[in-house]
Amino acid sequence: MERTTTQISQQEIDRQLAVCDQIAQLFQEEEKPLACVETYGCQQNEADSEQLRGYLARMGFGFTQDVEQARIIVINTCAIREHAEQKVLGNVGALVHVKRRHPGQLICLCGCMMQEQHVTEKIRQSFRHVDLVFGTHALWRFPEMVQSLLTQKGRIFQTPDEAGSIAEGIPVVRQDKVKAWVSIMYGCNNFCSYCIVPYTRGRERSRQPQEILDEIRSLVAEGYKDITLLGQNVNSYGKDLSEPMDFADLLAQANQIPGEFLIRFMTSHPKDATHKLFETMARCEKVAPSLHLPFQAGNDRILKVMNRRHTREQYLDKIRDLKSLIPHVTLTSDVIVGFPGETTEEFEDTLKVLEEVRYDALFTFIYSPRKGTPAAEMDDPMTREEKLVNFNRLVALQDQISEEKHAAYVGTTQRCLIDGCSDDPDYAFTARTPGNRLVRVKGQGDAVGQFRQVRITSANKWSLFGELV
Ligand code: SAH
Ligand code: SF4
Ligand code: F3S
Repeated sequence: MERTTTQISQQEIDRQLAVCDQIAQLFQEEEKPLACVETYGCQQNEADSEQLRGYLARMGFGFTQDVEQARIIVINTCAIREHAEQKVLGNVGALVHVKRRHPGQLICLCGCMMQEQHVTEKIRQSFRHVDLVFGTHALWRFPEMVQSLLTQKGRIFQTPDEAGSIAEGIPVVRQDKVKAWVSIMYGCNNFCSYCIVPYTRGRERSRQPQEILDEIRSLVAEGYKDITLLGQNVNSYGKDLSEPMDFADLLAQANQIPGEFLIRFMTSHPKDATHKLFETMARCEKVAPSLHLPFQAGNDRILKVMNRRHTREQYLDKIRDLKSLIPHVTLTSDVIVGFPGETTEEFEDTLKVLEEVRYDALFTFIYSPRKGTPAAEMDDPMTREEKLVNFNRLVALQDQISEEKHAAYVGTTQRCLIDGCSDDPDYAFTARTPGNRLVRVKGQGDAVGQFRQVRITSANKWSLFGELV
C-alpha cells in the first residue's frame, strides 16, 4: 500500500507551542481571557477539541460555556447528517448578535463541515462574523492562525484538501478525570457510499504503537480507569506502518500495561474484524467484553450498494464466533434506515439481524444525503413518511430487546466503574458495567473513579439501577 502519512515534525509543533507562549504574552496585562469550545459529532471530534483546549490553555485561556463571556469561541463541527449541519449553522448564525455586543470576540469554526467546500463558501459569503475557518487537516496549526487573527486584520480560511497527517505532542486538556480517549489512527479508506467521513478526515493513517502505548501509560499513571482507543475503523490499524502490526497486537500490548483500568475501542468495521481480534479480546482481562460492530443494513443488495464489502451471513458468522468466545459480550451497532432504493421488504432483513444478534443497544439513523458521496446521486423513491414508519418499527423492536436484556441483569452483582455523579437525589452515582451498560447507583461518599461491586435492583430499556455492595 502506498504510504500517505506525513508526520508533522516535533520542531513544527514546538514552533506552534512557542506561538502559544507569545499569545499568552499579549494577554499578560489583561484579566485571564476565556475560551468557549463547543463540540458536535463523534468521539474523534471530542478528542480534537481536547487538543484545541490544550493549545488554548497554553495561550493563557481559561474556559467557559457562556458565549457572552468568551474572548474566543471555537465550534468544532460534524458533517455526518443534514440535521447535525443545520444545528451548527443555526447556532453560528445566532452568534452574530453575541459578537455585536462583544466586538473584540473571535469566532472560529473547525471540524468536518469545514472540509466541505460548499459549506466554507457559504460561511465566506453569508456568515461574515466568522473570523477563522479551518479544516480537520489544519488543526495542528491552530496557534499560528489565532496569532494572525490577533495581530492582523481580516478573516482566515485554512481548509486544505489533503490526505492528512499525524501530529504528536499537541497538548491536551481532557474533559473527564476517569475516562479518556486515545486516537490510534485517523481517516478512513472505506468509502461507504453514503458517508462523508473519508472526504472530511482524509486517508487512514496509524500512529506509532510506542506513542499510543506511552500515552496509555501516562493516562493510567494520572489515574484514568477507562481508556477508549479511537479510529473510524480501528480494525485496519497498522496497515500503513513501516513495521506492520495489527489492532489485535496493539490491544494485547496495551493489556500488558500495569494498573487497574479498562480498554475499550471504537469503531470496528465488520470486514476487518477478525477471529484473532475476538480471541485477543477474550484473553486480555483489561479489554472490555463489548463490541460496537455497525452493520448498517441487513439486506445483501443494500450492503453491496452501500459498498460495505460484507454480506449479512459474513457479519452474523463473526457475531457467532465472538459470542462463542465471550458468551457475555455486550453488542451494539449502527443502522441506517431508508438508504436510497431500500424497499420495506429489504428493510425487514435489518429487523431479522436484530432478532438474531439481540444487541444491547443500537444507534439508529435515517439516511441523510451527503453532497459529493455516491449515494447522494442514487434514486431515492421512498417518502420520508414511509421511512419514518420503518424507523419507528426498528426503534420499537430494539427497545423491546434492550428492555429484555437489561431485565436479565436484575439480581446480579456487577463490577462497575463509578464514572460520575448525578443530580438525581436517589441515585447519586453513574457507573458502567464492564460491557458499558449505564447503571444509576445509590450510595454516598467518595466512589467516583473506583471499580465497585454493584447489585442491580431494577432496569428499564435505557439503563440499569443498583446499589453499592
Ligand atoms: N466509522 C464508523 C462510524 C462512522 S459515522 C463506522 O464505520 O462504523 C457513525 C454512523 O453514522 C455510521 O455508522 C452510520 O450508521 C451513520 N451514518 C453515516 N453516514 C450517514 C448518512 N449519510 N446518513 C445517515 N446515517 C449515516
Ligand atoms: Fe464512513 Fe464507512 Fe468509513 Fe465508517 S467505515 S467512517 S461509515 S466510510
Ligand atoms: Fe461527524 Fe466528522 Fe465524526 S463528520 S461523526 S465529526 S468524523
